[in-house]
Amino acid sequence: MAPAVEVDPGNAGQLGSWDGAQGAFWAAQADRFDRSVARYDAPFLAAADLRPDDRVLDVGCGTGRTTRDAARVAVRGSALGVDLSAAMLEVARRRSAEEGLAHVRFEQADAQVAPFPAEGFDVAVSRTGAMFFADPVAALANVGRALVPGGRLVLLVWQGLEANEWMTEILGALAAGRPLPTPPPGAPGPFSLADPVRIRQVLTAAGHRQVEVEGLAEAEWWGADPDDALAFVLGLAGWLLDGLDDDARAGAVADLRRRIEAHAGPGGVEFGSAAWLVTARRG
Ligand SMILES: C[S@@+](CC[C@H](N)C(=O)[O-])C[C@H]1O[C@@H](n2cnc3c(N)ncnc32)[C@H](O)[C@@H]1O
Repeated sequence: MAPAVEVDPGNAGQLGSWDGAQGAFWAAQADRFDRSVARYDAPFLAAADLRPDDRVLDVGCGTGRTTRDAARVAVRGSALGVDLSAAMLEVARRRSAEEGLAHVRFEQADAQVAPFPAEGFDVAVSRTGAMFFADPVAALANVGRALVPGGRLVLLVWQGLEANEWMTEILGALAAGRPLPTPPPGAPGPFSLADPVRIRQVLTAAGHRQVEVEGLAEAEWWGADPDDALAFVLGLAGWLLDGLDDDARAGAVADLRRRIEAHAGPGGVEFGSAAWLVTARRG
């Protein structure tokens, strides 16, 4: 069967995942994922420095929270969100309609190869959506061609694993003592742009200039209480337990619960995280 959307062959695996089970889970948990990273939203939007007439492209927009945030500022302009996940885009479209945002559109597309209109946008943004490209230079060059000369690019990308307690705690428990496969540095995934030197190389090679990389650290909210957070984490990453026998599985879940309880407070369960706020302009 032909794929639902034309993608670069290198992004076929990401399509399978985001347009499959992973995307379905994100779509079902849209509010929680939005809340988990909500503390980054103010600096992210401030960096985009949006104007009422701006035409905004949201790359890897997911369920469209940042697309809608942008559209509420770009009231006389427009916002287009593109993503691989049909299920997440369905949520994005529904939420936009509920909010009466008529100048927002969403399209299922691979941002690496999508035929965006040349110089069709003033600003491109991406909240944790730009780390999954097989060829990030090609992808960010494609996004660059969609920007007017001097157009702004704003990315939020994760810093390294070691700076992101939410990931080390989950992996630490669910690995259950097994060595988990470590992707090679720079491989598509949440941490592919964790190295600021690489960020600058990639953006420069893709034709962007004035690249600035600012470190941010915020707590991420993972649930109202330990039961809530545990169910969420197991829904997200429970597949890591595959292959364990019943005892090892029970031990890993108990370890995860202990780690979650250690991060529970009056505001819910929170883990430390760190991201790079990257800004640049199309050259
Ligand atoms: C971690 S999620 C972030 C979603 C959204 N930006 C947010 O902040 O909630 C990463 C998103 O990037 C999308 N994505 C990954 N590779 C992509 C590609 N080549 N083109 C378009 N979207 C892509 C995924 O489908 C997914 O929705």
